[in-house]
Amino acid sequence: MKLMVIGSGGREHALAWRLSKSPRVQKVYVAPGNGGTAAEPDLENVALDAVNDPDGLVRFLKDNDVAFTVVGPEAPLAAGLVDRLESEGLKVFGPCKAAAQLEASKDFAKQFMAKYNIPTAGYKTFTDQEAASNYAAEQAKRFPGLPIVIKADGLAAGKGVVVANHLAEAHQAIADMLTGNKLGSAGARVVIEDFLQGEEASFMVVCDGKSAFALATSQDHKRIGDGDTGPNTGGMGAYSPAPVVTPKVYAQVMREVIRPVLKGMQAEGTPYKGFLYAGLMIQNEQAKVVEFNCRMGAPETQPIMMRMKGDFASLVEAAIHGRLEQAESMADSLWDGRPAVGVVLAAANYPEAPQLGDSIAGIPKDTVDTKVFHAGTSLGEQGLVTTGGRVLCVTSLGGKLKEAQATAYQTIGSIEFNGMQYRKDIAAKGIG
Ligand code: AMP
Ligand code: GLY
Repeated sequence: MKLMVIGSGGREHALAWRLSKSPRVQKVYVAPGNGGTAAEPDLENVALDAVNDPDGLVRFLKDNDVAFTVVGPEAPLAAGLVDRLESEGLKVFGPCKAAAQLEASKDFAKQFMAKYNIPTAGYKTFTDQEAASNYAAEQAKRFPGLPIVIKADGLAAGKGVVVANHLAEAHQAIADMLTGNKLGSAGARVVIEDFLQGEEASFMVVCDGKSAFALATSQDHKRIGDGDTGPNTGGMGAYSPAPVVTPKVYAQVMREVIRPVLKGMQAEGTPYKGFLYAGLMIQNEQAKVVEFNCRMGAPETQPIMMRMKGDFASLVEAAIHGRLEQAESMADSLWDGRPAVGVVLAAANYPEAPQLGDSIAGIPKDTVDTKVFHAGTSLGEQGLVTTGGRVLCVTSLGGKLKEAQATAYQTIGSIEFNGMQYRKDIAAKGIG
């Protein structure tokens, strides 16, 4: 069968590559794809814009007899692409527009969590700057010494969260969003949240509307600098599994987060089908939800897909058909027991204003334990060039986490582009 993956990032390269390894899959189209997906033997890039030209996509899927589509990023999900494809009788994996609100509106997600008793930080939502600023001042008194967390309600491509260390910074963030229009309509409402302490982990599951199948756990590195310093980014590296998700935490998250989301979404009349990502903060083996994403995470997908060795396409297909319970038997055979580490190579000036258009050289061929996933790259007449802030993700398996880490960093040694930057401490927390 032929499949389609929507998106152009490292997540989509990893998803499409892994899907193409399933025995029944002949080809995976990627729309629009990147320089990495362009060069894979079983993948084919298609120049389609799923958000602005869904008609073109529908035509392509029908003309080419595509068995099902997997939607990678949040924007097409929030825009209702799944609803559209389903209305055409096409098979697609991803939440409908209403269910994608779990990521697309922080206020929706917080209200949903309150209603279904899902553990998360306390919060209030504001549209009025003075009221929001007064609340931030109260928070500073209530939790002296702790940061104040200000979040834009809507999708802001990773720029919507300010963890303010001082009240003045909180006031500025509120003003930027509510009156400065810095994030457009995404920032027309803000959520002010209590600060959660602990260690973060990413918990992703495949959902079919009724049940969930947990993927391997992982941990992202959000800050640009070593030792978790500097501004937040989309993620500078990740490893899997995350030891902070102990069996006790895993059981708690399935019981108190994942199952209540499925039940709640069913009760709301919008069953959740698709990948669901719970961003967790874990302290003393108790997890709280920092955020939901209605898609896989990047760069976490890269090490997770590196570790997957079973039939991924059949797992996704079972979910599309509401038969995920039958996939339980796959659980043990699905994973390579070895850990994997993915290190992101980012462009100069990422995340503020990444420099684009530089030539990339020295990417080694895949080996049995290393693969270089592409994100912001394109392959054209001038060869491979950078087209985004996060350019590549060098991902390696190893017998131990330390070995996976060493192999990934060794591989980076041969890769070059102008201004290339990367963190030197990806997975250090897992090595301890
Ligand atoms: P989000 O987009 O909601 O995941 O927020 C981005 C990052 O900001 C998270 O991964 C955390 O590192 C941090 N963050 C968000 N909310 C909180 C919170 N309530 N307490 C502590 N850190 C937070
Ligand atoms: N790595 C975090 C995210 O995908 O949102």
